[in-house]
Amino acid sequence: MSKKWEFLYLSQEDCIAAGGTDMGGAMQAVERSFFLHGKGDFIQPGKPVIRWGGPETEETTGRIMSMPSWLGGSSYKEELEKRNLIGPVDTAGIKFIPARPWNPEKYGLPRASALIIIVDPETLIPACVMDGAIVSAMRTGAAAGVAAKYLANPDAKVFGLVGASVQGRTQLMGMKKGVPSLEICRVYDINNKTANQFAKEMSACSQMKIEVVDRSERAIREADVVSTATIASAPYVQADWYKEGVFHAESSFWDTHPEALQVMDLIFVDDWYQVKHHGVDVSWRAVRDGVIEESRIIGNLGEVVAGKKRGRTERKQRILFNPIGLAIHDLSEAHRVYQNALQMGIGRKIRLFKNPEAWLKKIHL
Ligand SMILES: NC(=O)c1ccc[n+]([C@@H]2O[C@H](COP(=O)([O-])OP(=O)(O)OC[C@H]3O[C@@H](n4cnc5c(N)ncnc54)[C@H](O)[C@@H]3O)[C@@H](O)[C@H]2O)c1
Repeated sequence: MSKKWEFLYLSQEDCIAAGGTDMGGAMQAVERSFFLHGKGDFIQPGKPVIRWGGPETEETTGRIMSMPSWLGGSSYKEELEKRNLIGPVDTAGIKFIPARPWNPEKYGLPRASALIIIVDPETLIPACVMDGAIVSAMRTGAAAGVAAKYLANPDAKVFGLVGASVQGRTQLMGMKKGVPSLEICRVYDINNKTANQFAKEMSACSQMKIEVVDRSERAIREADVVSTATIASAPYVQADWYKEGVFHAESSFWDTHPEALQVMDLIFVDDWYQVKHHGVDVSWRAVRDGVIEESRIIGNLGEVVAGKKRGRTERKQRILFNPIGLAIHDLSEAHRVYQNALQMGIGRKIRLFKNPEAWLKKIHL
């Protein structure tokens, strides 16, 4: 048997060709990982983070996160198929994601870039190395979209968005996919140029009317569904901005005043252990600082997806979803793109080794 090993390398362009920008596919993959999370069929250690100061410095000087996980699925194969959630994953991977907030302004480069490794399930040797930026942004929009599908009012019309950059775009697409009745998006970004470019480029692909507004309050006040996806380092969302029946996905970390959580009827996260471990989400800071009781955190969205907990029970309820971002979502979505690439013959094979023992005879002082 040959001892050589090659992995598949997928650049950003390869990921696009393999369906990486298809929000419908990303939503299936992310609902799959929520479902398996709800069933407990995953392994996901707390993510190590490098940052140069306290949690708030993530938005000012940046951070580097490593996000390993294993996701199962073979025990739920039939149910996954019945729910149109692709199929089992049954392997492990890791996303390495550094982010510098000044990259866009200073260098015209993205704030976050990433690499993902997926291992061969039998040998656990890397089988795929791929760009992780697309997967990462798509799964974040998809997570908000899946949450909206389960927690927003299904006839919601108005979407209020604050932050119109990378995540803002995937939030828009995820929300429209999760709540197809949405018709209009009111968007605010502190950078007017970014907001205008968003409106110009996203209207056709989202099939929504997009209005740029001059304050975050205008985006949120009349909205049925809200997303905050900024790098704000001080809170601005006030409790009395929320309409009755609103669903708010706060995917960034400092936008909402912790006191505003007091008016929420239901609060869900993606994984309360991970939220506490990372220590930046407003839901955790509100509990830590005694603004709300820990019992106000109803649970993890996966429990709703898997049918273990109820989501919205009344039209009037104000509901917050506050995800920290899960490695299992990255793995599930990356695995979908990788499988597509294998089927379509996309990507480049790169040799990891020809003979894994050769180097042992080359050690020298
Ligand atoms: N929870 C998750 O799973 C998850 C995943 C990925 C990214 N994120 C977070 O989403 C946020 C956005 O990511 P991105 O890649 O789009 O960042 P980005 O730097 O590309 O864009 C941030 C945008 O926010 C705008 N902005 C900054 N302060 C603002 C304010 N006070 N009001 C309105 N707009 C403001 C900026 O002008 C910019 O357009 C980051 O905080 C990131 O950490 C969360």
